[in-house]
Amino acid sequence: MGTLSKSIAIIGLVLFLSYTFLMNPSYQLPLFPAKPQEKFPVIKASPTNISHIVFGTVGSVNTWKHKRSYIESWWQPNVTKGYIFMDSAPGNEYLPWPSTSPPFRVSEDITKLKGYPNYSNKIQLRIVQTVLEVFREGDENVRWYVMTDDDTVLVIDNLVDMLAKYDHTKYLYIGTNSECTHNNFAFSFDMAYGGAGYALSYPLMEALSKTLEMCIERYPHLYTSDNVLGACVADLGVDRTHEQGFHQIDLHGDISGLLSAHPNTPFLSLHHIDTIDPIFPSKNRSESINQLLQAAKFDHSRILQQTICYNKPISWTFSVSWGYSVHIYENVLPRSFLKKPLETFTPWWSGSGKEPPFFMFNTRWPSFTGNPCVDPHSFFADSNQNIDGNQILTTFSRRSSRGLLACAASGNHSAEPITKIMVISPIPKTVEVSILYHRIIVFT
Ligand SMILES: *[C@@H]1O[C@H](CO)[C@@H](O)[C@H](O)[C@H]1NC(C)=O
Ligand SMILES: *[C@@H]1O[C@H](CO)[C@@H](O)[C@H](O)[C@H]1NC(C)=O
Ligand SMILES: *[C@@H]1O[C@H](CO)[C@@H](O)[C@H](O)[C@H]1NC(C)=O
Ligand SMILES: *[C@@H]1O[C@H](CO)[C@@H](O)[C@H](O)[C@H]1NC(C)=O
Ligand SMILES: *[C@@H]1O[C@H](CO)[C@@H](O)[C@H](O)[C@H]1NC(C)=O
Repeated sequence: MGTLSKSIAIIGLVLFLSYTFLMNPSYQLPLFPAKPQEKFPVIKASPTNISHIVFGTVGSVNTWKHKRSYIESWWQPNVTKGYIFMDSAPGNEYLPWPSTSPPFRVSEDITKLKGYPNYSNKIQLRIVQTVLEVFREGDENVRWYVMTDDDTVLVIDNLVDMLAKYDHTKYLYIGTNSECTHNNFAFSFDMAYGGAGYALSYPLMEALSKTLEMCIERYPHLYTSDNVLGACVADLGVDRTHEQGFHQIDLHGDISGLLSAHPNTPFLSLHHIDTIDPIFPSKNRSESINQLLQAAKFDHSRILQQTICYNKPISWTFSVSWGYSVHIYENVLPRSFLKKPLETFTPWWSGSGKEPPFFMFNTRWPSFTGNPCVDPHSFFADSNQNIDGNQILTTFSRRSSRGLLACAASGNHSAEPITKIMVISPIPKTVEVSILYHRIIVFT
């Protein structure tokens, strides 16, 4: 017994010792709390709101004309705080700078950085450096810094609600993975992907402001800025906290299969808008984004979240991706099956040397089987409106004919004549909506 308590005391002592990093004293790191951070601690400070967040977006003058509409779709003038960091000063054709966009800053000269000559991907060095530049802006009462790309769209209200769950006085790094196994393998399974957007708490940002410049010299071979940042955060003793609502979208083609099976977590971001098809088949890219964010204005907490219900007498299943799509199946199919995305998209990298599994989640593959009992009729949202003062009406139209006979095994009830669907949902009273009741009306 005596020996046991002595060895416990020794373990305690060992744990108490600090560690220093490498032999070079300039790499010495601040000592961080060794105890694990609780996920949802009781927060005594005032609730986090939009004024506590500073956004840092990286852009380029050459592509600004095209990307501007994506940024302005989520930026709220005089409400959101932040900056867009450009690679050079915008010329006269872009001035005066619009008040509907984040104010611009010109990135600092990175060629002066000691790490510069050895960096394999110098553009990425500029991007990682903007993390320091946004901090040096010195905004006051900041709790979180959120970094994004210029082809990222955010749902600000959900982001605020998500960040409000966490204790901003802790060292937190919140984001998500790539959807693709090969991307995570090539870069990292542990980092927050930059295009999806990620959040850094103020204390972590402050710590990074002291170490980042030296840290990036250690990683000249890493190819992307988010990979370098993830490595530098890891070296400070902080691990990524995963939030599923961020979406890196390292995908190509039609991502409607993914967006129609969104997990029951608030939708936070969408990236790579130009590498995918417009998310609404009858609209172009910027119209599509506006349509989705328009629905989010009616109910940001529910947007995209998948709900499933059944019409038993005719054996139909409805899968609703709120504000986005409705699928009708002429069969009774369980949620465990329908929550797997239809694999309508392709991975970022495919072809020679790239073997499955491609994705970090299970999919329904092939997405369309030609079997009328498992292939859906797809409808996409056109419009939203408030009705009766306390309900939201969303209207959906058919994408195209399914081109199959009815599912005979479940009674031969064809949904082919349905052209339009209305979904009526109560306006949520709290953001903690867990069970949703919709009314679904179909029109032929
Ligand atoms: C956000 O919270 C602060 C208190 O931390 C308060 O002073 C401010 O008015 C709030 N702003 C908004 C937009 O709610
Ligand atoms: C933002 O505020 C400024 C100063 O109060 C005002 O001049 C400007 O019109 C506002 N911008 C928008 C887009 O509301
Ligand atoms: C750059 O790489 C060379 C060769 O590997 C190395 O000797 C040098 O120390 C590196 N410079 C920096 C600043 O890391
Ligand atoms: C998308 O459609 C809108 C409305 O029809 C149009 O104003 C806009 O120029 C289009 N955008 C692109 C990139 O084609
Ligand atoms: C199913 O309906 C089609 C017409 O919609 C009909 O031709 C077919 O005979 C029906 N099959 C069964 C098994 O009832």
